Amino acid sequence: MDIKMSDDIKNSNADVLIVNKFADKPTSEDLVNKYAPESFTGEKGQIFSIHTQGAKPYTKVVAIGLGDEDKVDNNVIRESVAKAIRAVSKKDVKSVAIGLDTKYNWVGPALMGAQIANYHFDKYKTKKNDRISELYFPNGVDNDLLNRAKSIAEAMIFTRDLANEPASYATPSKLAEIAMNLEGIETKIFDKDEIEKMGMGAYLAVGQGSAQPPKFIHMKYLPQNPKKRIAIIGKGICFDSGGLDIKPASSMITMKDDMSGAACVLGIMKMLPVLNPNIEVHGIIAACENMPSGSSYKPGDIVKAMNGKTIEVDNTDAEGRLTLADALCYACELGVEEVVDIATLTGACMVALGTAASGIMGNNDDFVNHIIKKGKEVGEKFWQMPMWQEYRDNMDSDVADMKNTGTRYGGASAAGMFLKEFVTDEVKWAHLDVAGTAFLDKPLKEFSKGATGVGVRTLLKYIID
Ligand code: BES
Ligand code: MN
Ligand code: ZN
Repeated sequence: MDIKMSDDIKNSNADVLIVNKFADKPTSEDLVNKYAPESFTGEKGQIFSIHTQGAKPYTKVVAIGLGDEDKVDNNVIRESVAKAIRAVSKKDVKSVAIGLDTKYNWVGPALMGAQIANYHFDKYKTKKNDRISELYFPNGVDNDLLNRAKSIAEAMIFTRDLANEPASYATPSKLAEIAMNLEGIETKIFDKDEIEKMGMGAYLAVGQGSAQPPKFIHMKYLPQNPKKRIAIIGKGICFDSGGLDIKPASSMITMKDDMSGAACVLGIMKMLPVLNPNIEVHGIIAACENMPSGSSYKPGDIVKAMNGKTIEVDNTDAEGRLTLADALCYACELGVEEVVDIATLTGACMVALGTAASGIMGNNDDFVNHIIKKGKEVGEKFWQMPMWQEYRDNMDSDVADMKNTGTRYGGASAAGMFLKEFVTDEVKWAHLDVAGTAFLDKPLKEFSKGATGVGVRTLLKYIID
């Protein structure tokens, strides 16, 4: 979508004009004031559109209800603009102008809402979805904020595209190739031999059943005098069949999305040189596929992670934590202050929180709360799950230091406690379980079906702030 500026937003070349209505106040558009029904009071979520019948330079005007003016926030604007964009996305509408009549700094969330709603993954469809190709903003809006929102939206689109790609395209090698080609980022790829040399036995075991070789990806964004050094790790299971503990077809069907965390990290790394924060950021992905074959790792196998801890493989479908274990060990050796991992880790988290919120855990409540707060500011919800010893006790093994699964219940916390074994105490660590939020099987709010790019906005906000 091209972003254009207009000196006079009511006389741009756009097909449609979006205006706002605050509760019980008139809009800036006489046609709406005149013809909207009384029920259109300007409450949050309301929408009214009317054809201008040649009376205006635009063919249609859409008014969005924003509620009380003094209660308006980014979420209201983003969701309302998204709704309006959805409503007007038709074949004959190619351009939309947004002219909100408020002192609130609305451009950032308006752009985000428009970009999120305008997204469709139709690369492989002969008949493409209807979408907007031009978006007009009034000249004089805050350009820095607009540009920042543009970059964040671009990161999201990149992440959503990659997570939506079938597994036959988005292989570990493909992720490595994408990482190598990022501008302004230093990337090192470790192949199987080097992964073995580093002692990443847990990660290696997961990928050994696949015809696709594993790729350990380390990306670095290195500003001159960074204020802080952090690492972000994305779960990069390019396809999760479950392995020998194979998934039923109904659970396997969406498992191309099991690299959503990796896609999020790639999207963020791609935009860091543009956003230019003064923080050193390491992006880490232990990419592989979890497949059943004659060379697969087996239930009962004992593997050793990079920090020397041994793990009895209780279930080959609890593979994400095995790959993350080694990625966490690696990250903690970089001398960074903070580590965040993002992973489609447990069905249990999805059962607990649904698609409404992601799970979050960590070894430092202040740090976890900080990430929760950043999420709130950009419209991504995180809900903290407990990290109690009971969950860890369930993973005691008779033959190794631990098993990779606990009991059937409390699975999100168990996975968190498992990961904690591979994080050193000096590092502040947060774990984001996005199993329920990374990929939608039906549209939700401003999002269409499929990949959501969850985490991109929260983690970028955390990095930029
Ligand atoms: N990738 C899945 C988790 C998942 C489930 C993501 C549904 C998105 C939607 C993960 O690797 C997995 O299979 N987890 C198992 C763990 C179990 C075997 C302890 C699960 O949640 O069932
Ligand atoms: Mn699995
Ligand atoms: Zn998985």
